[in-house]
Amino acid sequence: MFRFKIWPAALCFYLNVIIFSKADNFTYDSNPTVALLQKYIQINTTTYNDLGPAVKFWKNLAAEEGLKLKKYVYVKGMPVLVIKWPGSDPTLSSIMLNSHMDVVPAALEDGWIIPPFSGQISDGKIYGRGSQDMKSVSIQYYEALKRIKEKNITLLRNVYMTLMPDEEVGTVAGMQKFLQSKEFKAMNVGFELDEGGAVNLPVLPVLYQDKAVWQIIVECRGTAGHGSSFQPTNSTAVGKCYNVATNMFQYRDEQYQIFLSSPANDSSLYTSVNLNILSGGSANNVVPNLVRLTYDIRLNTRVKESDFQQQLENLIYSAGDNITITYISRNPQSPATIANSSNPYWTAISDAAKDMGIPVLPAIPSGSTDARHVRLAGVPALGLSPQINTPALLHAVNEYLGVNTFLNGINFYEKAIYNLANIPAGQASTNPSVYLTDTTN
Ligand SMILES: *[C@@H]1O[C@H](CO)[C@@H](O)[C@H](O)[C@H]1NC(C)=O
Ligand SMILES: *[C@@H]1O[C@H](CO)[C@@H](O)[C@H](O)[C@H]1NC(C)=O
Ligand SMILES: *[C@@H]1O[C@H](CO)[C@@H](O)[C@H](O)[C@H]1NC(C)=O
Ligand SMILES: *[C@@H]1O[C@H](CO)[C@@H](O)[C@H](O)[C@H]1NC(C)=O
Ligand SMILES: *[C@@H]1O[C@H](CO)[C@@H](O)[C@H](O)[C@H]1NC(C)=O
Ligand SMILES: *[C@@H]1O[C@H](CO)[C@@H](O)[C@H](O)[C@H]1NC(C)=O
Ligand SMILES: *[C@@H]1O[C@H](CO)[C@@H](O)[C@H](O)[C@H]1NC(C)=O
Ligand SMILES: [Zn+2]
Repeated sequence: MFRFKIWPAALCFYLNVIIFSKADNFTYDSNPTVALLQKYIQINTTTYNDLGPAVKFWKNLAAEEGLKLKKYVYVKGMPVLVIKWPGSDPTLSSIMLNSHMDVVPAALEDGWIIPPFSGQISDGKIYGRGSQDMKSVSIQYYEALKRIKEKNITLLRNVYMTLMPDEEVGTVAGMQKFLQSKEFKAMNVGFELDEGGAVNLPVLPVLYQDKAVWQIIVECRGTAGHGSSFQPTNSTAVGKCYNVATNMFQYRDEQYQIFLSSPANDSSLYTSVNLNILSGGSANNVVPNLVRLTYDIRLNTRVKESDFQQQLENLIYSAGDNITITYISRNPQSPATIANSSNPYWTAISDAAKDMGIPVLPAIPSGSTDARHVRLAGVPALGLSPQINTPALLHAVNEYLGVNTFLNGINFYEKAIYNLANIPAGQASTNPSVYLTDTTN
């Protein structure tokens, strides 16, 4: 009895290891699409690395489909790539499928079970930096378009794959420059599809608005002196910044209550505030004349910038005199893309998900993507990554994507791109901004 109970479990474990990992390797290693993602992950595109190898990778893939890759460089070392898949009616507005080439840093020493730039498959999962964020998505776009082409299906609208160099560090050299360029204007984009994130639930979050990012440095200046001097707290730099922090924490606690009562898919209702850098002081025995606080703030999407700025500056300046604020970023509020059937692009996406049996969850995330700049430029944008039932490991150690999740995602994009690029002329307005709505009114 004892043996009987133990053996099957042990045997099962053994068989799993032997049969299934062999089978996995056999199936997956012989799948050229999986191999392509592995190859892309192997290119170390940590932001600011030479993107030459990634450019070459995409140039080859474009060439294999008889397509030209355009490379635009607005800032040295930061190429923006565009691959055009021509539609049958180039007079219609186009569909832009955006992704970014760069990834956040990763090193084996951080605790990875496999080297982060190896793209190795283990237990049915492709491991590596960028497997979720977002090299998988770039390959999925490409494979979906390739399959549509192989089926001899002509799409009505031009489809552009765009690949950005610096999403992870603020998109200043990539998307933001590109949106102001004549090249972007010439593309006549009617809709942009961008990234979302993995969720460990059987739903597909579709992001239709992003929060504005404000980052500030508060500098408090006060009476300096010998470490033994004794000035009123409120006259010292530290005392003033303490008052700033107290006011800001009070505001933060109020916002945190709103956060607690918000639905999981709605980060639009609260303003997040985080004090991320505290700096100042030069020696143990010197009272500093300058102390700095650096804040990262993500605005609730309903507040007007001018109103919020006034509120923020009141909180800070009321903490004492000789306090200054420097804005590192003060993004304008970005409109929301209409997330219902009155927007044909929304319908195209949700129909594709429905076909796959995946429920769509409209959502406003706590962070933000390139899509907010696209919406600001007057183009409706939605963000998603078809990574359902997948723990969110964006920027994390041991980032992975299930091989089957990756492959199913291609099926999803095949339907989604087909729907988007075949929206008839009469069904989508020639003015894309009608699918955007300002939420601060
Ligand atoms: C599967 O492939 C990986 C590398 O791709 C290798 O490390 C592993 O040993 C292989 N597993 C089996 C059971 O062949
Ligand atoms: C990837 O690039 C980063 C940034 O240049 C570098 O620090 C890191 O060592 C590289 N990793 C590998 C495995 O080459
Ligand atoms: C697509 O068209 C080509 C050329 O006309 C033909 O050889 C091929 O069989 C077609 N493929 C499909 C899937 O219909
Ligand atoms: C504020 O700054 C001014 C000019 O630097 C200085 O004269 C004044 O003493 C400072 N006040 C305090 C309270 O530090
Ligand atoms: C959150 O999801 C629910 C259910 O799908 C939906 O009704 C609601 O509008 C979503 N919230 C946001 C902010 O999109
Ligand atoms: C110090 O300044 C803060 C903020 O202006 C104020 O609330 C507090 O009463 C002051 N403390 C003293 C002792 O003056
Ligand atoms: C769609 O959403 C917009 C903006 O949120 C709203 O004005 C409109 O009434 C909605 N239309 C439908 C059909 O639900
Ligand atoms: Zn990303």
